[in-house]
Amino acid sequence: MKDNSRRGFMGMAFGAVAGVGAVASLYAMKKSWDPLPSVKAAGFTTLDMSAYKENELVTEKWRGKPIFVLKYTPDMLAKMTAQQKSRVLTIGDSTFMVTLGLCTHLGCIPGYNPDEQSFLCACHGGQFDFTGDVTKVPPPRGLDIPPFKIDGNKLVLGEAGPEYAKMKETGITL
Ligand code: FES
Repeated sequence: MKDNSRRGFMGMAFGAVAGVGAVASLYAMKKSWDPLPSVKAAGFTTLDMSAYKENELVTEKWRGKPIFVLKYTPDMLAKMTAQQKSRVLTIGDSTFMVTLGLCTHLGCIPGYNPDEQSFLCACHGGQFDFTGDVTKVPPPRGLDIPPFKIDGNKLVLGEAGPEYAKMKETGITL
């Protein structure tokens, strides 16, 4: 009888230790599956949109890819067609082109000519207008627009806000 209760106690103690160990190892496993904070942060890029100058192309980086940011002049905005306007991001009082800086043909990086206000892809002669829409093949479509969310005067790349969702819905970007 005495022996039995000792065995029962030992069994319970062992069970408790094993249970704590199991929980601890599950927690450790979960921690190792979760992305590191630095990896989580790397998925998003926040741009301060007050920093850009009109008709001056700036290449930013998001998830290792080039991102074109072009702030429009009032003249550029005034001469846009409705199709071109559908690609425009309005942030505060300013308007922008924000696209991936990769040609939709085979992925070269097009160059911007501020005098002609157009892009030329030197690889195979593809051209894009100042909204990133294609004007000369072989690129099959305009420059793609990355997922974005407008947050005051900032733009968060990597997060899909309502303006981006509408662009996807209407086929402005893939
Ligand atoms: S990669 Fe740009 S035209 Fe071919």
